[in-house]
Amino acid sequence: AAEDGSRAWLRYARVPNASSYRFLPSSIVALNSTSSSPIYTAGRELQKGIRGILGTHININGTAKQGSPSIVVGTVDAYQKIYGDLDEVEDLAGDGFFLSTEGRNVVIVGQNERGALYGAFEYLSRLGQEKFDPVAYVSNPHAPIRWVNEWDNLDGSIERGYAGPSIFFRDGYVVDNVTRVAEYARLLASIRINGIIINNVNANPELLNSRNIEGLGRLADVMRPYGVQLGISLNFASPQRFGGLDSFDPLDPKVDAWWANITDKIYSRVPDMAGYLVKANSEGQPGPLTYNRTLADGANMFARATKPHGGIVMFRAFVYDNHINPANWTADRANAGVEFFQHLDGKFDDNVVVQIKYGPIDFQVREPPSPLFSTLRKTSTAIELQVTQEYLGHQCHLVYLAPLWKEILEYDLRADDKPSKVKDIISSERFKRPLGGSAAVVNVGTNTTWIGSHLAMSNLYAYGIMAWDPSVEPDEVLQDWIRLTFGFDRQVIETMTDMSLKSWPAYENYTGNLGIQTLTDILYAHYGPNPASQDNNGWGQWTRADKDSLGMDRTVKNGTGNARQYPPAIARMYENVETTPDNLLLWFHHVPYTQRLKSGKTVIQHFYDAHYDGASVAQTFVKQWESLEGKIDVERYEHVRFLQTYQAGHALVWRDAINQFYYNLSEIPDEAKRVGNH
Ligand code: GCU
Repeated sequence: AAEDGSRAWLRYARVPNASSYRFLPSSIVALNSTSSSPIYTAGRELQKGIRGILGTHININGTAKQGSPSIVVGTVDAYQKIYGDLDEVEDLAGDGFFLSTEGRNVVIVGQNERGALYGAFEYLSRLGQEKFDPVAYVSNPHAPIRWVNEWDNLDGSIERGYAGPSIFFRDGYVVDNVTRVAEYARLLASIRINGIIINNVNANPELLNSRNIEGLGRLADVMRPYGVQLGISLNFASPQRFGGLDSFDPLDPKVDAWWANITDKIYSRVPDMAGYLVKANSEGQPGPLTYNRTLADGANMFARATKPHGGIVMFRAFVYDNHINPANWTADRANAGVEFFQHLDGKFDDNVVVQIKYGPIDFQVREPPSPLFSTLRKTSTAIELQVTQEYLGHQCHLVYLAPLWKEILEYDLRADDKPSKVKDIISSERFKRPLGGSAAVVNVGTNTTWIGSHLAMSNLYAYGIMAWDPSVEPDEVLQDWIRLTFGFDRQVIETMTDMSLKSWPAYENYTGNLGIQTLTDILYAHYGPNPASQDNNGWGQWTRADKDSLGMDRTVKNGTGNARQYPPAIARMYENVETTPDNLLLWFHHVPYTQRLKSGKTVIQHFYDAHYDGASVAQTFVKQWESLEGKIDVERYEHVRFLQTYQAGHALVWRDAINQFYYNLSEIPDEAKRVGNH
């Protein structure tokens, strides 16, 4: 059963109606495959999957046998050489695939090798869900960059990781046993992730020592058959801290040469390295501002080094001053992204992508999209999401995140009063940029569940599927994942769907209402309720709560002016209390506790009620899960039951802590007489 956890959605469990699948190929034909090629992987995967799902063994061949039906998998070029022209493939984009189950053969053709592997996984996903009807379609990615980020440290610990130690590093070096890394690459490939940054954005320069570069090579070697390209986070001061130079000034020629040289060295061991991720001048990290150079000067230095190798540079927009003065009413960390980057638009090299967290602060339970998405018009951008639940309960709370991501991706920022959905900006479509896409911080560990909870894996699955196609509906992705991970039982599907779709609203209700942010302890673990920790410090995650009122005034007329960073139509909406939606009221406005919401309730009464509602929903998750006893294997059933029971208790802690805190401050009684001193 523990193995079931590791297999996640790739269990290939026998489907109940396997015998009703009519197509019985005599062979799998993997075209042009050498053992490190994703085509070879595709052949093996098809064999394994069909054995599990349908219970039949099929041989893999390099060529088709005359006269008998086959599953043919390969690149367009290889396929057309043997079978002649395929009209459909004209529509294929990079990494895309064509799948046909309509003819004599099942045809799986990729624009490249990776695309063919994606097509094989798609076919198996269909079989595994008994989607047996004949189909023929092309599937192309929404964006070229579909990466995950891991915040692993060289000592094996993981920043904001909740599933045990690293699968990549131990005691300062890349691990010897890379089996688990290969398994992870397989999971990632099955959801069409094509790149992985394996170390913490707060990067250790020792990653660049010779033993580790050799280790990077071994990691890349086991991920290559899955079409997952390795990349690394860099410490900006490496030339000094590791290379022994007296400077890390990006405009110093010897610094530039040092980076070019080390980059060549890495590429000679990892010729297909995806590129670099850089966190500079943020939260104490070194960067170009130290030398009065611009962030673009810094990014372009890496762009020059990687360009000859076809690599790209993901440069993080998470740059802000963490010592801002809370006494200054107009100071605002949410303004930092646009303030630091707007003047640099057009100054980044073509292989630089600015990686922007979805909201202007930091992965809160509710944020508007970052205004930087609509500000950068001449710069490639990517969105940064989190599968690891840093502010969202550390995987101990069930929070299905696809609905949150969907809201952000579908958000229309109205740049130049034209349709400007975030998803079309990051795909490069809206502003016609060369690159774009998404990255999610996942933080897998050695735990058999991969990220600390079986149910949280729906988020990793949904991330990959939505990075490929953001038009999918969160409930449909979820149900695909449930069928593949837990099977077909109607009650299992309905119960897990219901719990998952209620989970984000419930968590928002008991942790951070009306856009106030997740009221967690921000000074230490980012865990558990601690609203007082938000204010009166330099971090800028302020709520500005006092005895009469709360919320950040981000208006132009009286506040930090953040509303103006959005295009005019959006700016007007947020400038005005009346037109700001309730769920972002306290993000944009500072209002009395007695302010009436559109619902007619006061802010404070909404707080009290929402906390009771959210916490009571968390109680029902336990009963819902327990109703599935006997329908889920014991190991996974017990693991989830333990977490749901914990969440139910912790939701009560949250409810009472937050409600009491605001009651103490405001001294306004709860109309339902639940909160206060009775
Ligand atoms: C958050 C998080 C840090 C992380 C940082 C980042 O502040 O708490 O652990 O390093 O974001 O994204 O760079």
